[in-house]
Amino acid sequence: SSSSTVQSAIKNVTIIGGGLMGSGIAQVTAQAGQDVTLVDVNSDVLAKSQKSISNSLIKISKKIHKDNPQEAEKFAKEAFARIKTSTDPVSAVKETDLVIEAIVENLEVKHSLFQKLDNAAPAHTIFASNTSSLSINEIASVVKRKDKFGGLHFFNPVPIMRLLEVVRGMDTTDITFSTMMEWGKSVGKTCVSCKDTPGFIVNRLLVPYIAEAIRLLERGDASARDIDIAMKLGAAYPMGPMELADYVGLDTTKFILDGWSKKYPDQPLFRPIPTLNKLVAEGKLGVKSGEGFYKYE
Ligand code: CAA
Ligand code: NAD
Repeated sequence: SSSSTVQSAIKNVTIIGGGLMGSGIAQVTAQAGQDVTLVDVNSDVLAKSQKSISNSLIKISKKIHKDNPQEAEKFAKEAFARIKTSTDPVSAVKETDLVIEAIVENLEVKHSLFQKLDNAAPAHTIFASNTSSLSINEIASVVKRKDKFGGLHFFNPVPIMRLLEVVRGMDTTDITFSTMMEWGKSVGKTCVSCKDTPGFIVNRLLVPYIAEAIRLLERGDASARDIDIAMKLGAAYPMGPMELADYVGLDTTKFILDGWSKKYPDQPLFRPIPTLNKLVAEGKLGVKSGEGFYKYE
C-alpha cells in the first residue's frame, strides 16, 4: 500500500540533542526497529542518555513481555543496540532519512545547526524540529529544503506519553506531511496535526493553564499543594499544575512565556510572572535541580 511505502521510506533516523527529549525520541525509534544515531555536542550527556534509555527500556520491555523475562531482555538489548551515538552532527546525517532536532530552545542555535545539516544531508532527507514554542517557519527559514521541513512535537516522558503533534509549515508538502504522520504511527504514537501557531495544540492550552495556576498561588488564593490536589481530584489530571511545572522545568516554562510575551505583548495570558522569574533566578528549576515549587531528593 502507499502507506507502507511511505513508512518504509524512513529506515535511518538521526536525533540531534541527547537531553531529556532527544534520548526519549531515540528510544521509541529504536523500539520500533529503526536505526538511530543520537547526537549531542557533549559526550557526557550521551553517556547519561544511554544510561537513562537503558533503564527505561528495561521497565518497558518487562511490560511488553510480561510473562517472558527472556523475551523482555532480548527486546531491550536489541533496541539498545540500534542506537549509535555521535558528537558530530554533520557526519551523523550523511545517510539518514529523517533528522529530528531536540537541542536547546533557541532560534539562533537551531538556525546554525540546520544550516550545517542542510549542506550535509542527502536531498531526500526530511528535517523536523521538536520545538515547544518556536515557529516552525522561522526555524525552517535558513534551509533550502523548506518543502521537507516540519514539526514533530513529542511529550515528556516520551516513552510513556502517547501523543505526537505533527506540524505543517508554510512550505511543507503533502508527501512530507504524510511521511511524518506515518512515521509517527510507526513509533507507536497517536498523531494529531496542527498549523504552525504558538504552542501548537497542547502547549497553547497547557502553558497558560500553568501560568494561571502560578498567578493564583502568587495572589495567595491557595497553597501549591491545594492547587495540585484540586486539579488531580477535581479534574482528574495525573499531576497538578505546580507539580507539572516542576516536571517540565521552571526555566523551560519561563523561556516559553518570555518568548511569547515578547512576540504577543497584548496577550495577558503570556505575561511574565514575578514568582516564576524569582524561582528561576534562584536556580530553582524544578525536579532537575532538586527544587522548584517543591523539594526533590
Ligand atoms: N520510561 C519508562 N517507564 C516510565 C518512565 C520512563 N521514562 N516514566 C514513568 N514510567 C513508568 C513508571 O515506571 C510507572 O510504571 P509502573 O506503573 O509499572 O510502576 C508508570 O510509568 C507510572 O509512573 P509513576 O508511578 O512514577 O508515576 P505516575 O503514575 O504519576 O506517572 C507520569 C508518571 C506518566 C509522568 C504521569 O504523572 C503523567 O502523565 N504526568 C503528566 C505528564 C505530562 O503532562 N507531560 C506533558 C508535559 S508538556 C510537554 O512535554 C510539552 C512541552 O513542550 C513542554
Ligand atoms: P535538554 O537541555 O535536556 O537537552 C538539549 C541537549 O541539546 C543538551 O544535551 C545539549 O548539550 C544539546 N545541544 C545543544 N546545542 C546543540 C547542538 N548545536 N548540537 C547538538 N546538541 C546540542 O532539553 P530538552 O528538554 O530535551 O529540550 C529539547 C527541545 O525539545 C527543546 O526545543 C524543547 O523546547 C523541546 N521540548 C521540551 C520538552 C520538555 O518537557 N522538556 C517537551 C517537548 C519539547
